[in-house]
Amino acid sequence: MSWSKFNEYYLPIDELDFALDISRIDFSDGYLAEMEPRMQSAFSAMDALEAGSIANPDEGRMVGHYWLRNPQLAPNSELTRAIEDCLRQIKQITADVHAGIIAGGNGPFKNCLIIGIGGSALGPQFVADALGCPKHDKMRLFFFDNTDPDGMDRTLATLDGQLGQTLAIVISKSGGTPETRNGMLEAQAAYQAAGLEFPKHAIAITGEGSKLDKVAVSENWITRLPMWDWVGGRTSELAAVGLLPAALQGLDIDRILGGAAAMDTATRVHETAKNPAALLALMWYFATDGKGSKDMVVLPYKDRLMLFSKYLQQLVMESLGKETDLDGNCVYQGIAVYGNKGSTDQHAYVQQLREGVHNFFVTFIEVLKDRSGDSIEVEPGATSGDFLQGFYLGTRDALHENGRQSITITIRDVTPEAIGQLIALFERAVGLYASLINVNAYHQPGVEAGKKAATKVLDLERKIITFLRTKPKNPMTVSDIAQDLNLESYEELIFKLLNRLTVNNRGVNITQRSPITQSLFHSD
Ligand code: PA5
Repeated sequence: MSWSKFNEYYLPIDELDFALDISRIDFSDGYLAEMEPRMQSAFSAMDALEAGSIANPDEGRMVGHYWLRNPQLAPNSELTRAIEDCLRQIKQITADVHAGIIAGGNGPFKNCLIIGIGGSALGPQFVADALGCPKHDKMRLFFFDNTDPDGMDRTLATLDGQLGQTLAIVISKSGGTPETRNGMLEAQAAYQAAGLEFPKHAIAITGEGSKLDKVAVSENWITRLPMWDWVGGRTSELAAVGLLPAALQGLDIDRILGGAAAMDTATRVHETAKNPAALLALMWYFATDGKGSKDMVVLPYKDRLMLFSKYLQQLVMESLGKETDLDGNCVYQGIAVYGNKGSTDQHAYVQQLREGVHNFFVTFIEVLKDRSGDSIEVEPGATSGDFLQGFYLGTRDALHENGRQSITITIRDVTPEAIGQLIALFERAVGLYASLINVNAYHQPGVEAGKKAATKVLDLERKIITFLRTKPKNPMTVSDIAQDLNLESYEELIFKLLNRLTVNNRGVNITQRSPITQSLFHSD
């Protein structure tokens, strides 16, 4: 790696305290020029998207997350007003909660219990962890982001005795996601068990007229905030989904929005070599042959950014992981994303990255500022932060010497602005890359299919329970049950369902375990 190549492909944006280094991706000298016509098409598609075109054709929707941090960009004044009103509402609710004007059954709210999943949880979790400080945060954030009963119990145990000062925020764009609905019902039951009225402790963030919206209206919840159909779940961090929790935690949401808006400006330019989102998209294209042939490992050397890889995993994989392209061709696209944090991961999977199967490229995130105060020396002339950077630089070089490519994003510090910038940078890189590979980045048919598949399984489970109840204390094999229900091709599924029911006090018991063909199940 030469100093001159670094100079050529290191893009500092001083006003953002940000830099992108693509010098350790081994593209040829002519690559950027060769790709330029396609980049220009991607820029045009992005311009049209920002101007309000139907950029999500399958769902017939506009894609407007860029307007959230610059409402004047919205294609009509009604949308501008809606975004501005929502922001005002978020600030008012926050002020009222912090002042104790909106309070719980047992006094001012101290905690938030956020109930949501996917795009309705990952952004708020990332931002809360990146910018929070337990000592200074105005409220503590807790999450139900799954339908795991034990997971919810653990969270509720932490909140034991505090629900009367815990504000529940139920977030679902569609308002019909089962995991979130279940979380809401479980929370409701917990509040009731504590002698508290759930509606007086609950806010909904959802699409107007959704099931959740109707519940919130009919039960007279504290308030509701909008989720618009032109903001996708995974790009909703800078809508009420992310802004309300962040504001309640005490984070400066104007600074987050400002950072995102500034990165939008920097990544709106049509000059590829000066546009970090365009360069990222191009590097992904080069490194993965434009078809996801390599995985993206995200390695921030900073604990605060640990959840960034999880957040990006959804943003990238749910957006790009598509079976068909925009012309209906079968393409099986995507880029797999995983990661955690450095240097910790050097003691986990980095061994394989350095020496094992070569199926990845790395995105390092380097944070220049070590901590807010001074550091002790842990060795003569060296601080813990020096070690952290040493591990990053050493790993980057060792990987490159072994033919493993990497990108480095450098930020000065983990500030609200920097977090807004990172979100905006990757949102746009994903959009531009989607144009390069001609897929719709803004729908998620696979997620919807997953929801439907679960419904079928639950219907079958209900059928089995009802059936067994008609024959109490009558031991039956899986095959007997399948036959009686005319579900012969579902024997494995029936076994799996029964196997779990027997350990959950659901009135189904097992008298003989093996061989499984002879296992006998009966109801009480
Ligand atoms: O990004 C997406 O669209 C999804 O991950 C959704 O956020 C997720 O499925 C949750 O959906 P909803 O917000 O409608 O409950």
